[in-house]
Amino acid sequence: MTTEEVRKLNEEFEVKSPEALLSWGMKKFGNKIAISSSFGAEDGVLIDMAVKIDPKVRIVTLDTGRLPEETYAVMDAVKFKYGVKIEVFFPSAARVEALTREKGFYSFKESVENRKECCFIRKVEPLNRALEGLDAWVTGQRRNQSVTRTEVGKVEVDAGHHGILKLNPLADWTEERVWNYIKANKVPYNKLFDAGYRSIGCAPCTRAVKDGEDERAGRWWWESPDHKECGLHKPAGK
Ligand code: ADX
Ligand code: SF4
Repeated sequence: MTTEEVRKLNEEFEVKSPEALLSWGMKKFGNKIAISSSFGAEDGVLIDMAVKIDPKVRIVTLDTGRLPEETYAVMDAVKFKYGVKIEVFFPSAARVEALTREKGFYSFKESVENRKECCFIRKVEPLNRALEGLDAWVTGQRRNQSVTRTEVGKVEVDAGHHGILKLNPLADWTEERVWNYIKANKVPYNKLFDAGYRSIGCAPCTRAVKDGEDERAGRWWWESPDHKECGLHKPAGK
């Protein structure tokens, strides 16, 4: 797709609903598009919307091996409520064995570099495999989630993944709107949200946030806000 075509799509979908973008993507790409879900609040919304468009929607997830118990519970709740197949991708066993044998189980606490190494092995490399053969993927990123996401477009060219399209249908939604949708549509959600969590990743790298804190403040809370990306989402061309 040319830059001009992507610009036009952005202009068109900026003022349309997430369902309109999902529906367009699912029709255009068929089984070559998948929702990438960490089973966070946004991903639940996207799955609910997509299943209503086509129950055969593809859903991929990365099981890092360090997820909280509550995340597995919501994965199964989604699987059985909607009758969907969830395509789980695991990290390379050899890479995890090498990392933990050399650096132990908490190397990510030692430096940003070590943290990114762990995220690369447990998330980024498996995502690369998950996206092989796809023409587009869908994520739950929102612009007001953090300082690193203010520029997220609804339609992006993902240069880091052989130029496939990346759709972010909830880019302009607020956290409140996400929760209103979840409640209104009885979407299964991770029980950690009831315990003060507002963004959920791996268990050792996620905690609840305090009143007044940023919504992603509980992710890698020992790092400064401008580092808080795991490498799944690189700035992309719109
Ligand atoms: S993260 O990149 O820092 O982990 P966040 O948790 O805010 O990001 O999730 C943003 C989007 O990235 C999710 O809506 C989802 O599309 C994708 N994502 C994050 N983690 C995973 C995962 N473990 N499996 C699949 N997709 C994921
Ligand atoms: Fe490793 Fe933490 Fe990244 Fe999970 S979030 S992959 S445990 S550094």
